[in-house]
Amino acid sequence: MSQLFTGSQEQSKIFTKSDFGTNFKWGVSTSAYQTEGSHLSYGKGASIWDAFANKKGTIYKGQTGEIACDFYQRFETDLELMHNLNIPNFRFSLSWPRLIPKGTGTRNLLGIDFYNRLIDKCLKLDIEPWVTLYHWDLPNELEKKGGWTNRDIIDWFREYADLCSRKFGDRVSNWMILNEPLVFVGAGHFLGVHAPGRRGMKNFLPAMHHAAICQAEGARIIKNNRPKVKVGTTFSCSHIEAFSNREKDVLAAKRVDALVNRLFLEASLGFSYPIKELPFLKRVEKYWQPEDDKLLSYDFDFIGLQNYTREIVKHSYFVPYIKATNVKAVKRKVPTTQMKWEVYPDSLYYMLKKFDAYSGVKNISVTENGAAFNDILKNGEINDFERTTYIQQYLQALLKAKNEGVNVNGYFIWSFTDNFEWAEGFHPRFGLVYINFKTQERIVKASGKWYKEFLS
Ligand code: NOJ
Repeated sequence: MSQLFTGSQEQSKIFTKSDFGTNFKWGVSTSAYQTEGSHLSYGKGASIWDAFANKKGTIYKGQTGEIACDFYQRFETDLELMHNLNIPNFRFSLSWPRLIPKGTGTRNLLGIDFYNRLIDKCLKLDIEPWVTLYHWDLPNELEKKGGWTNRDIIDWFREYADLCSRKFGDRVSNWMILNEPLVFVGAGHFLGVHAPGRRGMKNFLPAMHHAAICQAEGARIIKNNRPKVKVGTTFSCSHIEAFSNREKDVLAAKRVDALVNRLFLEASLGFSYPIKELPFLKRVEKYWQPEDDKLLSYDFDFIGLQNYTREIVKHSYFVPYIKATNVKAVKRKVPTTQMKWEVYPDSLYYMLKKFDAYSGVKNISVTENGAAFNDILKNGEINDFERTTYIQQYLQALLKAKNEGVNVNGYFIWSFTDNFEWAEGFHPRFGLVYINFKTQERIVKASGKWYKEFLS
């Protein structure tokens, strides 16, 4: 690992902020369930994550997001800290069950008031709010009716998108519809390791199809209500490489690439699902209605690209449908983060090139990139040079793509503070700011100080 991490001083001489241009958007990202806490108070309804985290054996050490970073109560001082760190853009998500506790119908006025105060405080501090509509916390009442597997979700989602854009669209100029649809559909509806814990193709396919429609429909509603705002959506992606030149491995890598990097993006661009590479997708016909071709596509103003690592893939007879498996980074003895994800900055470069090559992709923002490391608090300080170096190396890769003509105009670090990392609970720490979860004390890490300096 030490080979890769040469130390921040040296790295930071390689580029400066101005190399990225004056219009480049620098920011940090968070999401509602991972930070807000106040999970069933102030009128908020339960989300699928509240329900899932309460089931035994779902989350590391039985942890939950009930309190998380207590951002609901502490947002003002957290935003002041963000401002002190010179961070000009803040991406956060709205909690659907905080705004519409049962998913449809009655609104929670306290929830609307909370996001009004949050947005106003951002603007007061000259921090531009970037809002994600859906970062995985579906109202649990909707899950009881089938959630993402029920086609009615298209109408439920329209109602939610309509409310959000009417209430906040006068002050929020940048919107994202879904956060990483493949992850919440795959982990939550095929593997069962994320909320709502559904498994198998019978859940995956309808959830996938309805999410892909909502991604476009949500955008249409926002744009209709607020023609001047910019509407995007976000995708997880990883550079995929075959383990060997054997045809089997090469084809396995193609299948994984189709699933991981193409499925939802291409649906929005008006292509059909990648059935050639993934024949099981043909069964989506069961959920298909005649007008769906039109419903699936939308001309987004920007695409949010979220990248952390790459995957090395080989053929496997044992994995159903995809017939492929990844060769773990730990096995390959390459540098990894606390998530055991390989540190591979060129993945960001390759993914930027790949997304940019679609003529329908007009503008890209890296809406998430960052790393969890085992931060050690010593004498009141966290010297996380590995995180700083990781960020610098990925920025270097971004700059290379930009200099080659890729239209990438933003970079948001995941995350502002340490927070609730889903099934992994609180132990992976992604923040630029450390949180003592017992006292809620915030301590700016060395990486946060570096970002401040860089942005000044
Ligand atoms: C993806 C997700 O959007 C976010 O919620 C998660 O915490 C980070 N990446 C890190 O895994």
